[in-house]
Amino acid sequence: MFNMIQPKLSFHDIAKFIGITNAAVHSKLKHKKIEYFRLGKRSNYLNHSGARELFNIKIKPTVIAFELVKGGVGKTSLSFHCGVRASLYGLKCLMIDLDQQANLTRSFGINNNNLPTMIDLIKNQLALKDNVIKVADGIDLLPSKFENAMLNTILLINNLPLDKVFKEQIEPLKNNYDLILIDCPPDLGATVTAAALSSDLILAPIEPDKFSISGLELTLNEISGISSTYGKTIPVKIILNKFNTKTNLSHQTLSSLFSNDKTKDLLLRNFITCSQDFPNAFDSCISLFDTIKKSTAKNDIDLLVRELIEILKIP
Ligand SMILES: Nc1ncnc2c1ncn2[C@@H]1O[C@H](COP(=O)(O)OP(=O)(O)OP(=O)(O)O)[C@@H](O)[C@H]1O
Ligand SMILES: [Mg+2]
Repeated sequence: MFNMIQPKLSFHDIAKFIGITNAAVHSKLKHKKIEYFRLGKRSNYLNHSGARELFNIKIKPTVIAFELVKGGVGKTSLSFHCGVRASLYGLKCLMIDLDQQANLTRSFGINNNNLPTMIDLIKNQLALKDNVIKVADGIDLLPSKFENAMLNTILLINNLPLDKVFKEQIEPLKNNYDLILIDCPPDLGATVTAAALSSDLILAPIEPDKFSISGLELTLNEISGISSTYGKTIPVKIILNKFNTKTNLSHQTLSSLFSNDKTKDLLLRNFITCSQDFPNAFDSCISLFDTIKKSTAKNDIDLLVRELIEILKIP
């Protein structure tokens, strides 16, 4: 068993998002008979279910793979927190951990020894939908474990069609979820190719250093190779993570991304500031949104999720 994370949406956040006062939030919730919770004397919040009723946001069900060949750029931290934040806008999320390091699984406080993972689904022909576990209100997870290190080999020795092997499992679940977020391992093996081919969008996080930029180039080349081999265009967006306003390197990275024809149109408007809150949250097995205090990290993730919702929203 594990302690479920408990993401919270403060009345302040609701008020800011809708553009009304805290008092108006109260009366709106009362009027709509939406249940809310209290933390301490004066802090009220909603959970995913309440947020779903309140906002009623409709987006095109979308599969997003967080992919970059370089390690440590924030694939796990950003996929985890985007899922959590999106759940607080009322979106239903499925998170798929494909990395044998299982950091996404650990982010949810799960130390996985025996729960089925992608390699078990493939070896034993199990259905994804029957093997996801609920990890928070509005969030399900297909966990990972060390054995997934053999996933590349299993896909290759069994000659499995990389354009179908995950997609056939994931696509029908678009009826159950608004967002399906895949956390990829830091390589360009068969697993990552199959993840890319089952995705509607690839989000490539990079950090401000030259290895990230080289990793980005490699990843973009690989995606364009996959696109032409399989005749499928997979849109890519880049998110700059660990931005530090005080360093030249951060500003240089940003300007080199903007001045490069291959990357300038792919860069998301928002970027994520370097913050100790990310490692701290991971260490404590909670999300940034388990507390309702304001922080730059929460604000950055919020803006990123809002940008994604804007791109995916059904008018
Ligand atoms: N914006 C940030 N500010 C500060 N630290 C961050 C930020 N984003 C992520 N981190 C930290 O950087 C480290 C690497 O992040 P993360 O595990 O998300 O990267 P990753 O791309 O998933 O790595 P891997 O490729 O090994 O799976 C972690 O310790 C994480 O807490
Ligand atoms: Mg990771």
